[in-house]
Amino acid sequence: MIKFPQDFLWGAATSAHQVEGNNIHSDWWQWEKKAGKTRSGQACRHYEFYKHDFDLVKELHHNAHRLSIEWSRIEPKEGKFSRKELKHYLDVILALRQRNIEPIVTLHHFTNPEWFAKLGGWTKGRSVDYFLRYSDFVTRALAKYVRYWITINEPTIYISHSYIFGVWPPQEKSYLKAAQVEANLVSAHIKAYHLIHKTYKRSNLSRPSVSIAQNVMAFVPYKRDLKNRLASALRDMVYNTGFIERIMQHDIIGDKALDFIGVNYYSRQLVEVQKFGIDHLATDVHQDNYHRCEKNSLGWDVYPKGIYEVLMGLKKYNLPIMITENGICTSDDKQRWRYIYNHLKNIHRAMKKGVCVTGYLYWSLMDNFEWDKGFAPRFGLIGIDYKTYKRIVRSSALRFGRVCKTGVLLQ
Ligand code: BGC
Repeated sequence: MIKFPQDFLWGAATSAHQVEGNNIHSDWWQWEKKAGKTRSGQACRHYEFYKHDFDLVKELHHNAHRLSIEWSRIEPKEGKFSRKELKHYLDVILALRQRNIEPIVTLHHFTNPEWFAKLGGWTKGRSVDYFLRYSDFVTRALAKYVRYWITINEPTIYISHSYIFGVWPPQEKSYLKAAQVEANLVSAHIKAYHLIHKTYKRSNLSRPSVSIAQNVMAFVPYKRDLKNRLASALRDMVYNTGFIERIMQHDIIGDKALDFIGVNYYSRQLVEVQKFGIDHLATDVHQDNYHRCEKNSLGWDVYPKGIYEVLMGLKKYNLPIMITENGICTSDDKQRWRYIYNHLKNIHRAMKKGVCVTGYLYWSLMDNFEWDKGFAPRFGLIGIDYKTYKRIVRSSALRFGRVCKTGVLLQ
């Protein structure tokens, strides 16, 4: 029997911009308008319907829920903090607590206030101070009710999509800027980590758990020759653990600045280097259909074994691991359940081998705004009818709910 520990955290994740709607002071809102992309608009109207959504979360037996605070609502103009929006998020957190659901709160999930972006965003050194000021305002108010904090969601994805591939705002393609952003995000995390701990200490609250949510992939060599094996190991070092390593190296206070590791896992990359050269080593993937593999609706490989592999790779850090995201976009709900089942099976396998996993949060609680891909990808346990905003609980949600209730994985 596949049984998870009693105190395991079970739930799903969302982020503010993707579900709340009308996020008008953010850089993404402006960019969607300018770039002629699908606009996030009202998203899922979760800002209004959060209580109803949390009733569903409760009915599905989740005991945890990951959400993000929207910086641009809290600080819509530089230095002007909104008490009203802070109160909104306090109500959101209390609504979870009243339902006995553990909130896991992210401070930065890809979006920035528009004013911050206009000042040069994360490329500038002062970005760290701005982020700290905002984090201080929020964490002081919510400390009493929150035990788990994620400072920054997927820094590596944010850097690559916004500053190297140029597909997300501000659409830069500059290694120099990417390096500046990385340095500032590392510093922002470390400083926010210590700030949050200090706040709790000062208020005599028990020690919180603070981390980042790191996107990890299984990098699998297409052929097991030296070139492809080398490239896979290199990518693992750069994309999966590079940011974590930098946090650990740079923390002068001597702490690890990570109380656990938040892991977001979705897919694998089949590594096939075509030519020598740093770009090829870093990005080439196998192109033809020889390795047929199940895909999600965005064409990403479904590879449950990979979560076992990455967890085994992270074991060396000797830190608890929380799966802060894992999920599939698909129009076939049976495929969604298969995906959840097979990933949980592999997580359990890693736990048997000594990896300490403390929770699993499916991405996402509901269908939502999938960034530059708009609303077509359906990641939700709960479907959204975007005409009526009606919530449709999928059968995969009920099956996952049974696991959350019993801690036992049954097919
Ligand atoms: C992000 C989410 C996103 C999901 C699916 C993660 O990279 O944190 O915001 O919707 O993956 O692409």
